[in-house]
Amino acid sequence: MEIQLWRELLEPYALAVDEIVVKFEHLIDAYRKSGNYSPVEQVKGRLKSISSILEKCQKKGIPFEEFENHIEDIAGIRIICQFTEDIYKVVDIIKNRADMQVKEEKDYIENAKKSGYRSYHMIIQYTVETLKGPKVLHVEIQIRTLAMNFWATIEHSLQYKYKLGMTNESSNRLLHDAAEAVAKLDEEMSQVRVAIVE
Ligand code: GTP
Ligand code: MG
Repeated sequence: MEIQLWRELLEPYALAVDEIVVKFEHLIDAYRKSGNYSPVEQVKGRLKSISSILEKCQKKGIPFEEFENHIEDIAGIRIICQFTEDIYKVVDIIKNRADMQVKEEKDYIENAKKSGYRSYHMIIQYTVETLKGPKVLHVEIQIRTLAMNFWATIEHSLQYKYKLGMTNESSNRLLHDAAEAVAKLDEEMSQVRVAIVE
């Protein structure tokens, strides 16, 4: 596919990322301006790179022309919260929004992944306006605490940097142990919060 065609195909996804980030930034603002605690601490967005899309198509045996129907994380949003409870508040906020339709949910907090990874994932349908009219597309939203993000960021960078070395048992075990320590830290911080609020 030509680079120009890729750019055109990805443009609506870039728009969706920008719009959704702005919407959550305004949500944070609205909470703070009304003197309320915001369950969203931080929001970030990213567009999947062309090389990552090609890599995923190859890995999953998806013909390149069909990538839009099969890859649901071309537009990605990451919402960072302070406490685990906030994550479920954000999930409810998203479910109650008229501009986001939840298509799929994965609770990797209740059911952590084998690696130890914890986060709440949602695939939503979101409509953007294009020159050709409205376009409905998929957006992946990952919701996690600061601590979950700390673990995922380091684990991802280690996996990326030492792709081969990380498949060994002992490093996987150590990462898993670290994930459990992070889960315990989240629990303790929630207890601190309850103690202070009360
Ligand atoms: P794909 O979308 O094909 O990757 O499979 P899936 O839909 O089953 O993905 P899943 O919901 O499990 O995870 C999607 C995203 O979550 C990944 O692209 C990562 O950003 C993140 N993720 C999942 N597992 C891990 C993990 O073990 N470590 C880290 N750091 N991130 C993870
Ligand atoms: Mg996925």
